[in-house]
Amino acid sequence: MSACSCCQPASIGKKIVMALSGLVLAGFVLGHMSGNLLMFKGAGAINGYAAWLHANPGLLWSTRAVLILSTVAHIWTGVLLTLENRAARAGGPAVEATRRATLSSRTMPYSGVVILVFLVFHLLHYTFRTVALGGQEFGENVYAMVVAGFSQPAVAGFYIISMILLCLHLSHGISSVFQTLGLRNERWRCRLDIVATAYGWLIALGFISIPLAVLLGCIK
Ligand code: HEM
Repeated sequence: MSACSCCQPASIGKKIVMALSGLVLAGFVLGHMSGNLLMFKGAGAINGYAAWLHANPGLLWSTRAVLILSTVAHIWTGVLLTLENRAARAGGPAVEATRRATLSSRTMPYSGVVILVFLVFHLLHYTFRTVALGGQEFGENVYAMVVAGFSQPAVAGFYIISMILLCLHLSHGISSVFQTLGLRNERWRCRLDIVATAYGWLIALGFISIPLAVLLGCIK
């Protein structure tokens, strides 16, 4: 009997690239979310942090290079693996696999696309500052820029919905990393799934707290 496509060496290689690039991105969102929480400490704290980052071009550009490479590798292997899985499903009985799949595992390609759309919007919003800021200039005042951005309920709502999808994507993605690395055996499966889900919610709720606090007038 021939091995299923997900067990072929080429697929395993892609899964490892997907897992490692995903881990880099998951680490980045934790760092970015922690830095963003300085919004709660006030303008001085977040503006000082942003100024420090921009005053270290070596750190900034090496982080950007790693992020761009990881994002391209993650999307590329994600598309290839999704196509391979679809082709394998079309060629054999899929009922059992589909039944076992969770909501987040089935929606991985879709949540991935929404996160990509979110990321493009987000970069235009806060890095290039070309959308949803009403043409205002903020200079080094990242605090005022974030408050102005999230004072628009539609923009804040879009961020909040995207963060919930990011949570689903991260939860399933991290479980898959454990699986790819061979750690998710019967004994550890349940505990590792709890860790992955908790990580997804930690990141999502940390990010969501900022647009929510602006909408509720706690950050102004
Ligand atoms: C409430 C949620 C978020 C807030 C308030 C926020 C805030 C910001 C701000 C202010 C910047 C510009 C920093 C600067 O130029 O000084 C930025 C850049 C960025 N953000 Fe976010 N962010 C959020 C969520 C996210 C998420 C979920 C992701 C990833 C999925 C993300 C990825 C990025 C990236 C890649 C950059 C570009 C960094 C660079 O300039 O190299 N952000 N964010």
